[in-house]
Amino acid sequence: MVQLNRYGFPPIRLRRLRKNKIIRDLVAEERISPDSLVMPLFVKERLSGREPVNGMPNQERLSIEELLKEVGELLNLNIRTILLFGIPSRKDSIGSSAYDRDGIVQRAVREVKKNFGEDVVLITDVCLCQYTSHGHCGIISTKNNVTVVDNDSTVEVLTKVALSHAEAGADIVAPSDMMDGRVSAIRSALDSAGYTDVAIMAYSAKYASSLYGPFRNATSSTPAFGDRRSYQIDPRNVREAIREVELDVFEGADIIMVKPATWYLDVISIVKNTFDVPVAAYSVSGEYTMIKLMVEKGLIDEKQAVWEQLNCIKRAGADIIITYFAKDYARWLRDGVIP
Ligand code: PBG
Ligand code: ZN
Repeated sequence: MVQLNRYGFPPIRLRRLRKNKIIRDLVAEERISPDSLVMPLFVKERLSGREPVNGMPNQERLSIEELLKEVGELLNLNIRTILLFGIPSRKDSIGSSAYDRDGIVQRAVREVKKNFGEDVVLITDVCLCQYTSHGHCGIISTKNNVTVVDNDSTVEVLTKVALSHAEAGADIVAPSDMMDGRVSAIRSALDSAGYTDVAIMAYSAKYASSLYGPFRNATSSTPAFGDRRSYQIDPRNVREAIREVELDVFEGADIIMVKPATWYLDVISIVKNTFDVPVAAYSVSGEYTMIKLMVEKGLIDEKQAVWEQLNCIKRAGADIIITYFAKDYARWLRDGVIP
């Protein structure tokens, strides 16, 4: 005799669908494929070989030669999209090495494209903070004794940076500065130069986050004074993020981004449900290093933690995940060792 529950039905047993891995995989609502993962890489001017990034275990700064090897390895693992950051040897107050035809990113892009062509998609970070002596993402100006990052002169420089990346062969340019109006300015500059096929992935909802610490260490881009709260979003706000995304979509962004990812899953979810453009989520350096340090201390299982982190970002609504774990995850997938 079947015991009926208080509604008069036989007991519902959700555990039936959790019995074994095959059934769990069958009913899983998410799947992570290397197709949707983007690997960030750091290429450094005048470096020979590789150098470890202090604070980001297992991540390295690469020479152009090493970058080519790394791209080859990633392609073998089916990671085919790369987000490229440059670390220049020359900085000045206006970040002019960021739009140098022979700058580090421009040369790296040309070399990667020469070797791999259409097999790889290159996204280039468009910003000034690695290239300015003061470490801010734009041009500094002082008015009435107050120093500010000036929006409009920064946008002008950013268009030059984006153009120089497109000229070198970048497939997608990704402005990460958070100045107002930069997407439309970059779009029209690209279009009038004939780069109508170069897409824009806008860092639209970029929060003023503590989680960028390890990255700034990796790229020597810590602001020399002040912080980025006058141009990045306040972590307390979500409606502000929607306005930012809306503007970027209007201005012609092809892909929009939410950054960081795991502390901002609500933002990813709202953005995904509000707009009809692909949503990228950037799981930033701090999110990476948190897991890595726990792994080093023996407090967490790495594969399980990364699996959970990526699936939760996906579940929130990300179409694309930018993660420093992309290469490791693709290897684990290939080797069939994901939990
Ligand atoms: C700079 C930039 C930052 C990141 C990407 N581009 C840091 C910042 O805004 O200070 C963070 C990436 C990471 O932490 O992994 N425009
Ligand atoms: Zn910046």
